[in-house]
Amino acid sequence: MTLESAPDSVVPAAPERAELPKAMITATGDEWWRSAVIYQIYPRSFADSDGNGIGDLKGITHRLPALAELGVDAIWLSPFFKSPQKDAGYDVADYCDVDPLFGTLDDFDQLLEAAHGLGLKVIADMVPNHTSDQHVWFQAALAAPEGSPERDRYMFRDGKGPNGDIMPNNWESVFGGPMWERVINPDGSKGQWYLHIFDKSQPDLNWENPWVREQFFGILRFWLDRGVDGFRVDVAHGMIKEAGLPDYTPPEEGASMGGAAATDLIPGIADPEVVPDPPYWGQPGVHEIWRGWHEVLAEYEGDRVLCAEAWVDPLTKVALWVRPDEMSQAFNFAYMFTDWKAKPLRRVIQESIDAFAGVGAPSTWVLSNHDVVRHASRLALTADSPQGAGIGPNSPGKPDPAVGLRRARAATSLMLALPGSSYLYQGEELGLPEDMELPDSARQDPTWFRTNGEKYGRDGCRVPIPWEANSPAYGFNDSGKSWLPQPKDWAPYARDAQEGVPGSTLEMYKAALSLRSVHGLGTGSVEWVTDYGKKVVAFRNGDVTVITNLGKVAVELPVGEIVLSSEEIVGGALPTDTTVWLLPS
Ligand code: GLC
Repeated sequence: MTLESAPDSVVPAAPERAELPKAMITATGDEWWRSAVIYQIYPRSFADSDGNGIGDLKGITHRLPALAELGVDAIWLSPFFKSPQKDAGYDVADYCDVDPLFGTLDDFDQLLEAAHGLGLKVIADMVPNHTSDQHVWFQAALAAPEGSPERDRYMFRDGKGPNGDIMPNNWESVFGGPMWERVINPDGSKGQWYLHIFDKSQPDLNWENPWVREQFFGILRFWLDRGVDGFRVDVAHGMIKEAGLPDYTPPEEGASMGGAAATDLIPGIADPEVVPDPPYWGQPGVHEIWRGWHEVLAEYEGDRVLCAEAWVDPLTKVALWVRPDEMSQAFNFAYMFTDWKAKPLRRVIQESIDAFAGVGAPSTWVLSNHDVVRHASRLALTADSPQGAGIGPNSPGKPDPAVGLRRARAATSLMLALPGSSYLYQGEELGLPEDMELPDSARQDPTWFRTNGEKYGRDGCRVPIPWEANSPAYGFNDSGKSWLPQPKDWAPYARDAQEGVPGSTLEMYKAALSLRSVHGLGTGSVEWVTDYGKKVVAFRNGDVTVITNLGKVAVELPVGEIVLSSEEIVGGALPTDTTVWLLPS
């Protein structure tokens, strides 16, 4: 990756941004990731080679040809590092080793070689905000005295009050409960408190400490030397906390990952400085860290990528993470959480294009991942469901599955026609819904435990995926075991039940990905078409016209050759919740 390939620009001031032309400004540079479709693998739930009920690296390697056939460009692997698995691997105990649950470093090397052999890039998941409490650094910190260099690698503070019994501040953990845990000293007395944005088993590192920064340079090089094509960076908006750690009460009850959907609140494109972030999210100091990481990646051949998980608002602020000398991409959570309505959808697409073009970066698009309700269910929910809360047997507003799937297919067909890079989450190509009936006894997400069952958490989107309709565990393994139970009615979603079946969700994804590549949509542009009324999103990207009808009334289609449709088109009309791609006839 070279700096020459990106414009030498800084984020323009707000008034200039507002004047950006309404048509898409194509991002510059020819790096593969600018237009790539990247498939997220959640290793525990993808494919299990040894039958213990938890997916593994060998299982992934075995199933890679199915992804090459699907037509994606890259895979992103959620963490497979050594971990006590308190947060499904997002609690890392050794960044330079594979957890025995998933295999060995040799298994990883084989996976990488197989993926590269199939033309797939491989992105690892780096978790720098916190370690596991089992990491040797944290164990050393607990054993070391207050004020020691070992403690300074984490966020230890004295408690308030005469005996230090009161927490250092009022921050609430993303998973529920306080963000602080008190340690017991080796002599049995009560000691300092440490900060954990997530579970108490995930202590936050002190990124003001140069020693921590150095360690991560080494960790990045370890995986880059092995040949990974880049990193998805976990909680890339959390690593620096406001000086003095001031009290903070979020506007809504309970902490969350931060902003994401507030674009609707902001008329036009707002100045990032006017929207204050909580003292633990989106602090300006994080950008120096990304400039350092950028330099490490630039030492390597072949356009390595850094993708930020940064839940900040508005999109112009997210764009700060992908300035030319920082990261390459950032997840577009504002897009993900836009209601299934034409006006906000058109608006978030345009805002995304403008905001990222302002720094010469491509926009990304994403509808599902391992932290949110699957979009085949989310898009038909009739009650609010905040990110991370999940849906379960007693949730209000459960979706009609047929409406959800129909909207998901229309939404994905629209997304895959947009220029930039798209992220897919395993199982969405099968049309998988959220599992909303998981028994309480099966739940594993720390959110469920830390909120005493008030929030179901994220297990419903993490259930092992179905490969074969008539095999044990739907072909996830041979033993029939599954770390989260699979629903009894998932056989029709299995890959082998959809393979070669015209109109199946799997075939629709394959067709969309192939057409996207043939027509160069990933590197194209958006030119809005306004002929179809308020309830329709329509645009041209090169020679392809994309029309999505979000209204109840069917819309007459123009003359043209339909090359993709998310539902069967009868006569010349586009029904509700349907997307078509047309070529001039
Ligand atoms: C990110 C991950 C999520 C994890 C959290 C803490 O948001 O996507 O799964 O629980 O970070 O690491």
